[in-house]
Amino acid sequence: MRRSFVCGNWKMYKTPSEARVLARDIARGLRGDDGRVEVAVCPPFPAIAAVAESLRESPVAWGGQNCAPQLEGAYTGETSAAMLVDLGCTYAILGHSERRQFFAETDSTVHEKLEAVLGCGLTPILCVGETLEEREADRTSEVVGRQLRGALAGLPGPEIARSVIAYEPVWAIGTGRTATPDMAEAMHREIRELLATMIGEDGAEAVRILYGGSVKPGNAADLFSQPNIDGGLIGGASLTASDFLAIVRAGCSTE
Ligand code: 13P
Repeated sequence: MRRSFVCGNWKMYKTPSEARVLARDIARGLRGDDGRVEVAVCPPFPAIAAVAESLRESPVAWGGQNCAPQLEGAYTGETSAAMLVDLGCTYAILGHSERRQFFAETDSTVHEKLEAVLGCGLTPILCVGETLEEREADRTSEVVGRQLRGALAGLPGPEIARSVIAYEPVWAIGTGRTATPDMAEAMHREIRELLATMIGEDGAEAVRILYGGSVKPGNAADLFSQPNIDGGLIGGASLTASDFLAIVRAGCSTE
């Protein structure tokens, strides 16, 4: 049985001081039975240490939004997997569409980053998803399949099985346009079937597949109630403690 997972992606919002307060408010707002859902937040790198302080005594985990493929070296401006581990991170978001779009990340760089992250014991949250143009051209399966194979090919089965996948249709990110629960479920099922061809049915059944793209308190329960949607990767709505907590509760109601 997969445990639901709700993760906030704070993107380039929140200074360290603001992040400390938001993390504290999330931790304080959690109720006893919220523990049915795993909860994490991924602040910008400079805010991770402050967030770690706020969350240390709480069940909320934290992670980075990116990670260098190299383990260390003269790579100005980069952050390594070992640095994230040292900051107490559990997760690293990889291959987010904003990184693909604005920072020229390709399936092969995402693959290298996955190796670095898995090698350090972190859990990757691998993002995949099609653009509006690709969906309208009926290329969704092809694009998502290529992104998954490109990122995961050659990795050991158990490493893939402990990874998290986030299906984030690019046209739904920050637009207020959400995939319908049926539409999202269809892609999640397809992703799980593809994973089964790579690592077998049991491995694929263990992988948590999150939905991301304009998840809000009002639509989260319908999305999370789908059999192959195991939670969400939340952008805008994770920047307000009350909205984020309401989404966590929507996850609890479907457990
Ligand atoms: P929004 O929830 O703001 O649409 O962002 C989704 C996202 O990109 C999470 O990684």
